[in-house]
Amino acid sequence: MKLKGNETYETRIAPQVEVLQGMGDVVLNNLNLLSPVDKAWQPTDFLPDLTGENWAADLKQFRGPTAALTDDTLVVLVGDMVTEEALPNYAVSLNLIARDYVGTSPTPWARWMRGWTAEENRHGDLLNAFLRLTGRVDMRAVEVTVHNLIANGFDPGAYPDSYGGLVYTAFQERATKISHMRVGQIARSQGNASLARICARIAGDESRHELFYTRMAAEVVKQDPNTMIPIIRELLRRIIAMPGKRMFDGKDPDLFDHFAAVAQRVGVYTVRDYAEIVRHLVKTWDIASLQLCGKAAAAQEFLCAHADRLESLADEITARVAGLPPSRFAWIYDRTA
Ligand SMILES: [Fe+2]
Ligand SMILES: [Fe+2]
Repeated sequence: MKLKGNETYETRIAPQVEVLQGMGDVVLNNLNLLSPVDKAWQPTDFLPDLTGENWAADLKQFRGPTAALTDDTLVVLVGDMVTEEALPNYAVSLNLIARDYVGTSPTPWARWMRGWTAEENRHGDLLNAFLRLTGRVDMRAVEVTVHNLIANGFDPGAYPDSYGGLVYTAFQERATKISHMRVGQIARSQGNASLARICARIAGDESRHELFYTRMAAEVVKQDPNTMIPIIRELLRRIIAMPGKRMFDGKDPDLFDHFAAVAQRVGVYTVRDYAEIVRHLVKTWDIASLQLCGKAAAAQEFLCAHADRLESLADEITARVAGLPPSRFAWIYDRTA
């Protein structure tokens, strides 16, 4: 929502920051949604051992089933990996909520944010190493894409509201969970059990993260519904911008849209998934049963009907995307997908 009259960004967010800072205990009670480092998986656990005596044979064995991954699968996997590799963008954005000015702050929000960043960091690392070892993608084109995405930045569309960052992240953690899960299923159907396992583990992390952000947003809904509900409406009213929106391989100005079209076509992340996420969040936050008036009540009404509205557009969008011509991707040496 826009700033009103003589409002400044600071005066606008001050009451929201107060509520978020006051939630320290709730955050603290949910820090167990991070996995302790000594119990956490690491990328190495899923990759061939290149230090062993049999490294060449291990690598060969690893590569065997990767030959069967289709170009469509490689494209969705690269797109997901690029999105994960732009983690610095999301860490910058979420520090608006954690408000760690020192960098080592001991507050629960700051501890969550660092722990979350550390867990997320493994996602890009693992997918990056996996893709490199397959020998099937143009890693330099992929790296240019990541470089551009981080340099281009990321706008979750939450400005000028701090609460919006929580809503956005709750949405995105669920979206990435779905997307990794589906790529894993496709990998399994194409005979690659190791990629299937990798995607399932990453999806498992996203699932814990989703729970955290969904709970924190639920707490805000409970404490400050009259501010929060219109902010949720504002975010969900426009199509939520995906974190990889500004990716660029140096060639295709519509790269993200082309990647998203492949993801929709192969069923990795679709309009129906988008509608399902909206339905899930509105239900989980129990928006329908809140006692609200004025602007917040209007936003509530909008939100309760929004998933149906999106569902009703799904067939048309699915058909439109299915009819799009395939695009060339530098990631797979300019072949089409
Ligand atoms: Fe991730
Ligand atoms: Fe995540």
